[in-house]
Amino acid sequence: MSVPTDRRYGPASLPTPRGPVSGALVAALHRPPHDLPAGLAGALAGDVGDGHPDPLTDEDRQLTLFLCYELHYRGWAGVDEDWEWQPSLLALRAAAERPFEAAVRRLVGPQPTVLPAGVPAALAALVAAADGPSLARTLHRQATLAQFREFVTHRSIYHLREADPHSWALPRLGGPAKAALVEIQMDEYGNGRCDRMHAELFRVTLGRLGLDTDYAAHLDRVPAVTLAVNNLISLFGLHRRLRGALLGHLAAYEMTSSLPNRRYGNGLRRLGLDEAATRFYDEHVEADAVHEQIAAHDLCGGLVRTEPALAGDVLFGAAAALATDRLFAVHLLDSWAAGTSSLRLRAETDGPVGAVAERFATRTPAAA
Ligand SMILES: [Fe+2]
Ligand SMILES: [Fe+2]
Repeated sequence: MSVPTDRRYGPASLPTPRGPVSGALVAALHRPPHDLPAGLAGALAGDVGDGHPDPLTDEDRQLTLFLCYELHYRGWAGVDEDWEWQPSLLALRAAAERPFEAAVRRLVGPQPTVLPAGVPAALAALVAAADGPSLARTLHRQATLAQFREFVTHRSIYHLREADPHSWALPRLGGPAKAALVEIQMDEYGNGRCDRMHAELFRVTLGRLGLDTDYAAHLDRVPAVTLAVNNLISLFGLHRRLRGALLGHLAAYEMTSSLPNRRYGNGLRRLGLDEAATRFYDEHVEADAVHEQIAAHDLCGGLVRTEPALAGDVLFGAAAALATDRLFAVHLLDSWAAGTSSLRLRAETDGPVGAVAERFATRTPAAA
């Protein structure tokens, strides 16, 4: 298997293990597909009550899930593609997933029962009731350049493949919901223009901030909570039974995007970044003001008109998106309040920041 020289679009190199299970899996993935050691799946099968760490912040579990899920996206450099459907790897994935899904369901709690016609209003109520700390306000008004780079580093795991996890829903839908999802995804994918794809706009932002722009380049640096935010969408996306949750998740993202993205863009402008750096965020201010209406009414509303039994799943997915994003925001703000980095590793290789490197050289903390 050759390793591509252009790493912008993946596959990424296998990450550094974070515990015994991810360690055994990484070691196995270097070899041709084979049965994983008996007992490996069992090591992740238990939940908090059995003495296991919280699945949402368990580095070994979250990296194991990410390793398994990525085989369905871009794969891993030098890893045999047949690993994607290797039965013992799928069993390991299932063992890692069950406590993760259970933990997310505990986190969000029971959702109100609503009739299908009430789903768009219930989504709006969920979003309105979300009481997370305002990471966007901090980034807008007071974050240092180093902290903004941290934020972008975390988000790179999602934004460099933005829209892909939600596209898993397309072949599972028909009718109005499918048309609505295509309408949203067309914008996400730049209406067929590579340089307008949101993932590519974000790559420019990364570059202007002097950060590595390759796909999953920052994987080793982000903690379990960041992986959990991403693994959640893959969990919803790869299980057809969770298609309602996947659409609810997308709706929550679209309905909480416009104002925060305005703040992110203004935060970068405050820090002296140029229009190329802010374009990704500026683009979302307008686009997601439209997307949020399509997502609530045409996408989720359309789904439950044809599949009324999925109304509860839609709300669960939206609540899960909001709750895990809240954990993410708390982690960043708590880390910064404590004067520490929110990343696992300090960057040794971050480049200078576009036009502002010198300007901030004296008052920016050491790159996180
Ligand atoms: Fe987008
Ligand atoms: Fe959007």
